[in-house]
Amino acid sequence: MKIFVTRKIPGDHLEKLVKAGHEVIVSEFDRPLTQEELVEKVKGVDAILSLLNDRIDGDLMDAAGPQLKTISSYAVGFDNVAIKEASDRGIVVVNTPCDEVNEAVAEHTWAFILALSRRIVEADEATRRGGFKGWEPDIFLGINLVGKTLGIVGLGRIGSMVARRARGYNMTVLYNKHSRDLEAEKKLGVKFAPLEELLKFSDVTSLHVPLTEETRNMFCKEMIAKMKKGSYLINTARGACVNEHDLVEALRCGHLAGAALDVYASEPNIDPELIGMENVILTPHIASATKEARDKMGELAVGAILEAFDNKKPQNIIDEKMWDKRRM
Ligand code: DGY
Repeated sequence: MKIFVTRKIPGDHLEKLVKAGHEVIVSEFDRPLTQEELVEKVKGVDAILSLLNDRIDGDLMDAAGPQLKTISSYAVGFDNVAIKEASDRGIVVVNTPCDEVNEAVAEHTWAFILALSRRIVEADEATRRGGFKGWEPDIFLGINLVGKTLGIVGLGRIGSMVARRARGYNMTVLYNKHSRDLEAEKKLGVKFAPLEELLKFSDVTSLHVPLTEETRNMFCKEMIAKMKKGSYLINTARGACVNEHDLVEALRCGHLAGAALDVYASEPNIDPELIGMENVILTPHIASATKEARDKMGELAVGAILEAFDNKKPQNIIDEKMWDKRRM
């Protein structure tokens, strides 16, 4: 079988495909491919190992040809893959959810919470610029987290891991998801709140929802206005869940004290106004960038292709129901 890998991935997992007798073609470019390049490269392949910044739509699947059987997405979020189009064509789509990635994203979220609440990035920059003139009583005042409220929007695997860590900081944790999760409430000591209530009482609100039609632009002007005055917004989920223009306005007028973002509405572009703001921390979509996470992602992404080729159902099929209707 022929597999196209849209960009070199860390580790040696691809060798397993070669050892199993498959032909592996890795993009020669160390950058995301343009759509035209992708369309060209996937022609005639049986599987695609893609990244979260590849747009895998129905046209691309058709360009690949009727032999395309598996799309293995090296990511947890799969908003870049047209799942229904794949299922309609009998193409199996898998992703790489795992503890290693979930923990990495939860840890990055906490790095954001700590760095924002103690103004670490601003203080570091000022210190490097020679701004440290000796101890002063009123420079870089942040907030204590103890006793404050953390609001988690989306209590899935990552959200739950973020909540678990909040215990160590003695924070109250409110969560919102489609329905109450009594087990999580018991296990994590979190409390369900309708979204508006969560926003009203949370000192820090952190997003952990997938990007869907429901969550796109979720944090727009009206929603941000409902957030507690002087609170912080953290986004390690998907950029398009937050309206960046409305966020800038809320930060500029002081309604929000700060924000930390790992993801952006139109990556790799970032609203220039955000870049200029001191009370904002920006990272380049690296929440899952740990050696452990990348290693497991490679193992899962490659393992799923091998399993699907062997007609064994991979554990992370996104649309499980389509397995029996898959292309052979
Ligand atoms: C993913 O894999 O979907 C995430 O964006 C990791 O940060």
